[in-house]
Amino acid sequence: MAVTKEAVLAGLDAVATPDGTPLPKTGKLSDIIVSDGKVFFSISVDAAVVQAWEPVRKAAEAAVRAVPGVTSAMVALTGERSGQGRGGPPERPQGAPSPHAGRGRPAAAAAERQPAVPGVGAIIAVASGKGGVGKSTTAVNLALGLRDLGLTVGMLDADIYGPSVPKLLAIRGKPELHGGNRLKPMDGYGLKVMSIGFLVEEETPMIWRGPMVISALTQMLREVEWGTLDVMVVDMPPGTGDAQLTMAQQVPLRGAVIVSTPQDLALIDARRGIAMFNRVNVPVLGLVENMSYFVCPKCGERSDIFGHGGAQHEAERQGVPFLGAVPLHMDIRETSDSGRPVVATEPDGPHARIYRDIAAKVRDALGPGPSGRAAPKIVIEA
Ligand SMILES: Nc1ncnc2c1ncn2[C@@H]1O[C@H](COP(=O)(O)OP(=O)(O)OP(=O)(O)O)[C@@H](O)[C@H]1O
Ligand SMILES: [Mg+2]
Repeated sequence: MAVTKEAVLAGLDAVATPDGTPLPKTGKLSDIIVSDGKVFFSISVDAAVVQAWEPVRKAAEAAVRAVPGVTSAMVALTGERSGQGRGGPPERPQGAPSPHAGRGRPAAAAAERQPAVPGVGAIIAVASGKGGVGKSTTAVNLALGLRDLGLTVGMLDADIYGPSVPKLLAIRGKPELHGGNRLKPMDGYGLKVMSIGFLVEEETPMIWRGPMVISALTQMLREVEWGTLDVMVVDMPPGTGDAQLTMAQQVPLRGAVIVSTPQDLALIDARRGIAMFNRVNVPVLGLVENMSYFVCPKCGERSDIFGHGGAQHEAERQGVPFLGAVPLHMDIRETSDSGRPVVATEPDGPHARIYRDIAAKVRDALGPGPSGRAAPKIVIEA
């Protein structure tokens, strides 16, 4: 029995939202794609209430799965920033950009002001102006792509309010102490990993104030036995507010990769992300368009549900490189959410290839390491 959009919407009528409005009447749904029993759509809410909407996303998936004929459902939840953080406790940093973002107050280059981390080659940030655009998924798969290029890669989860790297890499347990008071990073698919998620229980309320956040970040950067790394990938917290700016300044960054979805609102945030890194003189290595297009798993037909191509145009407009487009795909979602990132678990698949291509562009943009050590010459398979 063929599934129709109307049947999906009827199923969603029973899904209540935090204020009680039935989901289809909220105006927050994207176009609904139905393809061979598989259903995809997104819910866009204010970034400040994203967490409150996560149960709604789950309920929506369950309701769609219950529609006769539906074989799978994927509902993405994205946060539109409107001057607030992306939810969570009130102490969270504001996502609002500073009115001076991109101009005014000259800032010394983060890389100049912050001492290098001994043994660590280039440190790159993966950032986004808004939450839920797939930054952590991109960061993890980019790190694995760099690993596949033969580099020794570390991963630092700087999202202290919402650490997700332990889950994305299915790492459990606590880091061991090395010598006196230095921590040993954990291992995830050959990456050396550190996250606040290893150190605090998930239920611990994240009522960290700004200075504590910075000291946690500094400790994870400098009091961890990273050993020798070619590249460290830092998964930044979303947003471009002062808190994020300060974090960007605490790390001697060689460059930043900005992740965006193709929608206009996300692109405005991506532009703010570029401005933030410009302000601290960190070069933007390029823009990745995530959830760029949807390819029907059955017929191969491509749908641009969010208006594909926006990030590439934005990259051209901003004069930053375009690093690649990653499709919205169930495999990426499922592997990411179950701790089996696609580059590690489906290395021969099309998605892994896209991430490795992005990784190769990032590696080339980095050039030789600060230690004078040239980036290894790697032959990428055809
Ligand atoms: N290309 C993709 N195709 C399908 N699902 C994706 C894709 N990229 C990310 N996702 C899914 O979207 C959700 C959000 O991704 P992720 O956690 O990586 O975003 P984020 O920007 O780091 O979010 P946050 O702002 O909360 O840190 C996850 O469920 C993830 O699996
Ligand atoms: Mg994240």
